[in-house]
Amino acid sequence: MINIGVLISGGGSNLQSVIDNIKSGYINARIAVVISDNKNAYGLIRASEVEIDTETVDFPSFDHRSDYDAHIVAILKRYDVELVVLAGYMKVVTPVFIDAYKNKILNIHPALLPSFPGLHVQKKTLEYGAKFSGCTVHFVDEGVDTGPIIAQAVVPVLDDDTEESLSSRILKQEHKLYPLAIRLYTQNRLTIEGRRVMVSPPISHDERINIAPPHSSG
Ligand code: GRF
Repeated sequence: MINIGVLISGGGSNLQSVIDNIKSGYINARIAVVISDNKNAYGLIRASEVEIDTETVDFPSFDHRSDYDAHIVAILKRYDVELVVLAGYMKVVTPVFIDAYKNKILNIHPALLPSFPGLHVQKKTLEYGAKFSGCTVHFVDEGVDTGPIIAQAVVPVLDDDTEESLSSRILKQEHKLYPLAIRLYTQNRLTIEGRRVMVSPPISHDERINIAPPHSSG
């Protein structure tokens, strides 16, 4: 069973979905540590409630970004973390971190990448007038939301949507999609070929149930 480290900055609803999907047996892994750059993150409480170790790292007390990331990597290594899951973590990771966990860091983003990377994503989606949005789980590379895509889910953008209503529709899909991607990783089913991530054996209909749209090869 592999050790996961989850990095958060806020509410941690994606962390909760990973906790729940480990408990149900959908993901065969263990969360070894939850790390936050924000001591008030509600996700820290979610972790403590189920007796997962937590660490808070004070970003402003580091002179250089790379020192901060080296410190995070040291914590992850101390907990024997093999897979890093970024779940609403608001810091861009630097090469120190990426090199230590090459192709072992996942992120979830609330849009259909490569559209709308970065911050204020739902606002940008609404302002642009896109008719569909969704979420993307991808490997993390040196860029901002640019790494190879593992899985995506799609939601409609409705005429009366606000940032809040769109975010909440996307989040519901995030809570299904991230556990699926983590499951695929922990089952060694992902291979990166250039920018493409191949899944073998392919995602089954049952695995993708409740994730929109359902997969079909025909
Ligand atoms: C999610 O929308 C995620 O896609 C983005 O940050 C948000 C985090 O939400 N990266 P939560 O903290 O998991 O509730």
